[in-house]
Amino acid sequence: MPIALRGARLLKDLSKNDIRILNMIETLLKKGEYAPVDKIVTYSGFRQKDVELILSKIHKLKLIRRWTGQFVGYTLSFAGFDALSLNVLYEKKLVYGVGRERGVGKESDIYYAVDFEDKEVMLKINRTGRASFQKIKRKRDFLKDKFQYSIFSMAEIASKREYKILSDLQNENLPIPKLIGYNRHIIVMDIIDGIELVNAQYLKKPIKTLEKIIEFNKILYQKHQIIHADLTEFNILYDEEKDKIAIIDFPQAVSTDHPNALYLLRRDLTHLLDYFGKKWYISTDEVESVIDYIIGN
Ligand SMILES: Nc1ncnc2c1ncn2[C@@H]1O[C@H](COP(=O)(O)OP(=O)(O)O)[C@@H](O)[C@H]1O
Ligand SMILES: [Mg+2]
Repeated sequence: MPIALRGARLLKDLSKNDIRILNMIETLLKKGEYAPVDKIVTYSGFRQKDVELILSKIHKLKLIRRWTGQFVGYTLSFAGFDALSLNVLYEKKLVYGVGRERGVGKESDIYYAVDFEDKEVMLKINRTGRASFQKIKRKRDFLKDKFQYSIFSMAEIASKREYKILSDLQNENLPIPKLIGYNRHIIVMDIIDGIELVNAQYLKKPIKTLEKIIEFNKILYQKHQIIHADLTEFNILYDEEKDKIAIIDFPQAVSTDHPNALYLLRRDLTHLLDYFGKKWYISTDEVESVIDYIIGN
């Protein structure tokens, strides 16, 4: 995979056995903070010498991190975790190669990739926990090179959640990304044309755009019992050519029977109306009547 994302670029240099050892480390990390070398040897069924060679190779590639304490152990790096995921996406014939970065979101890195038919697709690589990891790292120096598996599992859970929510919405022709597949913390989806609303300089008919967004929320609420819960101008894409919107970024979406459902809906709509008021000079009904419209009172 010829590219900028390290975990993907390195994939071509990894043998089946290298991947197997990486996988083993991941499995062992579910039991402790580090995967002890002797356990990696036992579980893999490889000879100690071969395991050590592989560990030294993938350590040099920075796919794993070493820890020396009462025992010698390893944990994955983000690149190692990316490599494991991309390997599966490749084996499933969903992603052939990874290209340039599209951007860095609040909690994810977005990359262009190509599938096996040479069609461009989008990878959303979840990085939930990255920020908190950096915070911990800054605060507590001795944690400097300790990675906790919980960080990866947080990212994995967020991705799974987003995938599940989006997959329940797929058959409706809603303006959301079309799913192609996922593994661990990476979702593969189609590319939506357009720019984030926050960067739009021109809207053909701002009021119509706002109406479309409200309509979308109504369908989400009434037909699917879902509230987006992070509906900002960063998560709405606008295609100027087609005058079309799309809504993205769903890991935090909640069900309408969530205890904070109404609070979150009100927060979304207050923000949205406020944004359209300030940036596009749209004066609208009171938030409360828009909410009533959405929930169908
Ligand atoms: N399917 C997609 N098509 C085009 N751009 C996308 C797509 N998914 C994400 N992006 C771009 O990446 C940015 C971050 O994605 P988002 O899903 O909002 O993640 P985050 O949780 O990190 O904010 C978006 O603001 C958007 O510009
Ligand atoms: Mg976002």
